[in-house]
Amino acid sequence: MEALGIDIGGSGMKGAIVNTETGVLKTERFRIPTPSSRKPKKMSKVFKEIVDHFDYSGPVGCGFPGIVKHGVCKDHGNLNDSWVDVNVEKLFSEVAKQPVTVINDADAAGYAVMNYGIGKGKTGFVLMITIGTGLGSGAFYNGKLLPNFELGRIPYKKFKKIEHWASNFSKERDGLSYKKWGKRFNVFLELVEEITCPDFIILGGGVSKDFDDFKDYITIETPVEPANLGNHAGIIGAACAVLP
Ligand code: BGC
Repeated sequence: MEALGIDIGGSGMKGAIVNTETGVLKTERFRIPTPSSRKPKKMSKVFKEIVDHFDYSGPVGCGFPGIVKHGVCKDHGNLNDSWVDVNVEKLFSEVAKQPVTVINDADAAGYAVMNYGIGKGKTGFVLMITIGTGLGSGAFYNGKLLPNFELGRIPYKKFKKIEHWASNFSKERDGLSYKKWGKRFNVFLELVEEITCPDFIILGGGVSKDFDDFKDYITIETPVEPANLGNHAGIIGAACAVLP
């Protein structure tokens, strides 16, 4: 079976058709920058452009960068606050003219990694942390997803959410080297470890491919490894999330 997976981020909206048995991309990834307003109307237009690009009809799965409960956005994360209470599944299904299933983006990425990547077969409590505009988290207990775990929202010093200090966006905003940012990110991981006692942590998002540049600054006891699905985990997980 195949499905179209669309991964929405603060800076880009990306899609590809995925073989849902193997978790392998069947097409090139297609990316359009996220509209700068980050508002529902403009973003749903881009969503439609992505679906149209693939000339696709069939199930569509989408990873959304905020809290999603039963298809409805309950927190907008780093998107515009007009997303709150929008039925994202309904909106995207209408523009795409086919059924769209929407889940949190880090939950989607984690789903991919747990089923087709380094998390496969891992039992106990596994956390997927995605490092991007925000800090996303997907939580899995014995392989089963506990949706909408929001570890990037831990308050830290003057920051309402620690993601405003330790995400990749913060790294770029503050012009940090991997050494300086790696130490910040380690503070985040220390809090995560203290609060949740995970057995294993998997890192995703663009910077996870540079893991060798910051791994020396990660000092927590929990084993930490980068995801091994390139930058495609979000798309793969979104596509596979449409399966019953
Ligand atoms: C949101 C999360 C999301 C993460 C990564 C955060 O701002 O609160 O729901 O998973 O960004 O996109």
